[in-house]
Amino acid sequence: MASWSEAQDHRRAGVWTGILVLAILVAGVGSFVVAKYRWWLQPLASVQGRVIDQYFNWILLVTAIAFVATHLFLAVALMRYGARGGERASHWHEHLGAELTWTIVPGVAFIALGILGVFTWSRLYSAPPSNAQAVEVTGRQFFWYVRYPGADGRFARTDPKFVSQSNPLGLDPGDPAAKTNLVVLNELHMVNDRPIEVRVRSVDVIHSFFLPNFRVKQDAVPGRTIPIWFTPDKEGKYQIACAQLCGTGHYTMRGNVTVESQAAFDQWLQQQAAH
Ligand code: CUA
Repeated sequence: MASWSEAQDHRRAGVWTGILVLAILVAGVGSFVVAKYRWWLQPLASVQGRVIDQYFNWILLVTAIAFVATHLFLAVALMRYGARGGERASHWHEHLGAELTWTIVPGVAFIALGILGVFTWSRLYSAPPSNAQAVEVTGRQFFWYVRYPGADGRFARTDPKFVSQSNPLGLDPGDPAAKTNLVVLNELHMVNDRPIEVRVRSVDVIHSFFLPNFRVKQDAVPGRTIPIWFTPDKEGKYQIACAQLCGTGHYTMRGNVTVESQAAFDQWLQQQAAH
């Protein structure tokens, strides 16, 4: 048998471990509060972003409840049921109800989140509306090419064999659209309240086209054209970031985004074409 003072030591250790678990809980909740007020999401500027934010909040809520509940339970169990020194561990299924509860409740919560995720995904990755403006964004170490089609809305064919200093995207000179296509650096202009389809490409390594304010993040993969669409709904200036470590200049891979009226957009495009 363990002595009385040994049993006291065990109980004290249990209480301290319980306090440590409570400290982790307080640190976790505290970090959330600090993050919420200092580094939270960028101001929202797209219709689809609302759907992403809702889903984000659901995940946060479910995981927060799980985090708080499990830490409280662990702390209480450590403090109350600390070893007294003479016990042997044993396993039995007397509390089947409790076992079923802690298996089924999280299971249902995560399946519900999964189903909600499928609906969220299907609302975002669908065919764009017919009035969508189309642009192509191509990542390259370490900037973004943005290609706007001409008035006919056509993008010229591209082929790596045409790539040169003056034709970095390899537009096919035999395609009439090559003359009307406009390629600019790091300047993505969009029309307010008009859906935009962005065809995301890369000419070298994997980049990630990230528009924090629009809740858009899409990998740019060499050899592939990946379309995404969304609807900006707040005029203003924003930024493109690259969200994939793509080389030493990764952190400089920043582009400008402007959301403006159709008239301002048309005027800007004309100015660019005149250059
Ligand atoms: Cu491109 Cu990081």
